Amino acid sequence: MTISLEKDLLTQFEQHLAGHGYPTRSEAVKNLMRKALVEQEWVKGKEVAGAVTLVYDHHKSGVLKRLVSIQHDCGALIVCTQHVHLDHHNCMEIVVVRGAAAEIQKLLVALKSTKGIKHTSLMMATTGEGVS
Ligand code: NI
Repeated sequence: MTISLEKDLLTQFEQHLAGHGYPTRSEAVKNLMRKALVEQEWVKGKEVAGAVTLVYDHHKSGVLKRLVSIQHDCGALIVCTQHVHLDHHNCMEIVVVRGAAAEIQKLLVALKSTKGIKHTSLMMATTGEGVS
C-alpha cells in the first residue's frame, strides 16, 4: 500500500510516533487502522468486549446495593468483576463486559447514573473476531 500525504501531516504524525514508541511507521498505521475497525464495531452495534472502571465510596448510602443490583440485571453481559479496596472509603471495580455494543452502553448509563459514583470509564475493545 502506498499513500500520498502532505509533508506537514507526515511531520506531525512522526512527532506523534516519537512519543508512543512504535518500532516502525507501518506498525503505527496498522494500529490506527485496527483502532478504527474496533470503533466501527461499537458504532455498528456488533458483539464487542470491553472493561468498565468504576470508583466509588462504599460508605455512601445505597451505592453498593445499587451497583450489585444493576450487575445482576446484566449478568449475561458481564464476564467478571474485580473489586479493589483503594483505601478506607474508596473502591475500584473493573467490570469486564462482552456482548452487543448497545446493551453494554445501556449498562454503562445505568452504572454512571448511580448516585455516589466518583468515576466511570469505558475501555472499548474487541472480541478480536472482526479485526485482523
Ligand atoms: Ni472495596
